[in-house]
Order: sequence, then C-alpha cells, then structure tokens
Amino acid sequence: MYILAIESSCDETAAAVSKNGREILSNVIFSQAEMHSLYGGVVPEIASRNHTDAICPVVDRAIVESGIKKSELDAIAVTYAPGLIGALLVGVSFAKGLSAALGLPLIPVHHIRGHIAANLIAFPELKPPFICLVASGGHTLLAEVKDYTDMKIIGSTRDDAAGEAFDKAARVLSLPYPGGAMMDKLAKDGNDKAYRFPKAEVSGFPYDFSFSGLKTAVINTVHNCEQKGEILDREGLAASFCRAVADALVPRAIGAVNEFSPDNRVLAVAGGVAANSVLRRALAEECKKQNITLYLPPLSLCGDNAAMIACQGYYEYLAGNLASSDLNGYATMSIEFTL
Ligand code: KG4
Ligand code: ZN
Repeated sequence: MYILAIESSCDETAAAVSKNGREILSNVIFSQAEMHSLYGGVVPEIASRNHTDAICPVVDRAIVESGIKKSELDAIAVTYAPGLIGALLVGVSFAKGLSAALGLPLIPVHHIRGHIAANLIAFPELKPPFICLVASGGHTLLAEVKDYTDMKIIGSTRDDAAGEAFDKAARVLSLPYPGGAMMDKLAKDGNDKAYRFPKAEVSGFPYDFSFSGLKTAVINTVHNCEQKGEILDREGLAASFCRAVADALVPRAIGAVNEFSPDNRVLAVAGGVAANSVLRRALAEECKKQNITLYLPPLSLCGDNAAMIACQGYYEYLAGNLASSDLNGYATMSIEFTL
C-alpha cells in the first residue's frame, strides 16, 4: 500500500511516500527555520504563507523521488493536529483537495503519534506495547503505546515543553532559532557542573514535567552575570542546562517503564529533543543499567518530517481511522483521542 503524507503543523513543509507503512520511498522536508530565525521564533502568519508557497513543489518532489506514479497511490495522510492552526490548515486543505481529485481515502494523523512512529521506521522489529518519551518543541510527555493507535498519557509537561526551554535558553545566549541543536553543540566543550539549576517536581504527579522554572533560572543567570560585569561560561551553561533537562526526562522515563511495563522493558524516544546528545547518552547508560531495551531514532527522523506521518497513517488506515471532506485542523488534541 502506497501512502502520500503531508506535514505542515509548524515551520516545516514536508511530504513523503511510504510503502506498507514502514518502508519510506521519499521524504522531502522544506524547513522555514531561517525565515523565522530573524524573529527569534516561529511567526504563525509567516509559517502559513510559506507553507502555501512550498506545498505544491514539496509534494511534487516527494512523488517524483518515490519512483511511483500518482495513479499508484492508495491513500493521502495528513497531520490534522496539534500545531499552529493556520499552518495545519494549509496541509489539511491541500490533502483534502488531493484526495478528492484522485479519489483516494484521507487519513488524519496526530502529529505526536507521528513522532512516535519515527521509531517504527527506524526499527522494523519494534512493535507495541512500549513506553515512549516524547520531547519536542511543543510537547513533552510520557505515553504508554498499547497498540499502534491506542495510546495513554502517563505524564506531560505542566508548562513549557523541553524544546521550548531549549529554544528560550539558546535565545538568551544569542544563538539563532531553533537553538536546541546549537545548545547541544556548545555543551560539548562545557562543564555540566558549572551552574546549578532547579529541579521541578509536580507534587502527587511523579510523571509530570515542568520546565518554566529552569528556563527562568537560565535567563536570570545570564542577566545577573551581565549586571555584575562577570564573564559568562557559555559552554558550562549550555552543558549544565542539557544535564538539567536530561535529569528531568531520564528518571521519569525509566520510572514509567518500571511502573507501567515492568515485564516488557522497552523504551522508545521521539521528538526534536530526542536528538540531544546529552539526553541520548544518559538514556543509553540508564537503560543499560536497568535492563531496558532502548530505541533512539536517527537524528534525521527526530525532527518534523512527513515520513513519520506516512508510517503512522498506515496504521490509522488499518484501524479504519479515516476522515471525510469535512476534516478540520485542531491546534490542540490529545494523543489518546482518535477522530
Ligand atoms: O519535534 P520537533 O522538530 O518539532 C515540534 O514538533 O515541536 O522539535 C523541535 C525542537 C526545537 O525546540 C529544537 O530546538 C529542538 O527540538 N531540538 C533540540 C536538538 N535538536 C532539535 N533540542 C536539544 N538538542 C538537540 N540536538
Ligand atoms: Zn514535531
């Protein structure tokens, strides 16, 4: 089965073709990051306009690079939630038009379910159930993936997502948006004990996260340093920050495996922050100690892409989760919910 997928939930216009879900025939990503870096973050209206300009050439290229003809496609999958509403609507409208024109079924795909499916592409042997740690620019959560389209949230962030905290910390260090990867790079030469940052716990909710205090602590550290005329240890700050994020994510992810999946000890990781080298190393070390099988997708599948949407779209199709021509986009939507 050939699925063409479209992703436009934030600042990447992406299209991909998959064969029977996990085999990716093409994966085209047009990143708008450079256009938004001028403003220090994604400007929703600019994102929508850029998606409108990019979507035709991106989809065309995905079909050409897949080596199959448009007439061989079996279904169109599209990210319908969550994300920037104007951005989502560009992809949703385009997919609805294409599915009507080609007479193909339309598959609505939840963006975070897509991120989780990046693991299914990278690791053909991986099958639910497993626990997944999702850390992206807009979301940070722990999910019990009971089946391909049946997921339960174990815990999530009460305020900022991990990626958002990375981007804000990078911004105060005058690094361009999106700053996560640059923070990671800067941290490589730093002492992760150079600065002490607060650890947040949500009383009574051991699997929930909070990153806003950490974000504020970084901003205050930089400002205090400037006011006192001291020299900031930028590398040390980046390393201490990466360590603080890993310290928040890793114990909760391990705890979730131990509590919710003690016999089937499998942890997958997803989202842009899953590319972070400090986090990857910490997860690998801890999972080894605790006898947990760890799945870390390659960096190319951690960030936003349409291959993950095409893969998840296949499983949504098998479960009968299809949309009609009145499909809408939604800025927020739980991964537990099926349209
Ligand atoms: O999953 P994603 O591509 O988009 C969303 O769905 O939000 O995640 C983007 C986030 C950004 O905040 C970016 O700074 C962060 O992932 N990121 C990283 C790294 N690479 C990307 N954060 C930490 N370390 C990295 N190496
Ligand atoms: Zn994403």
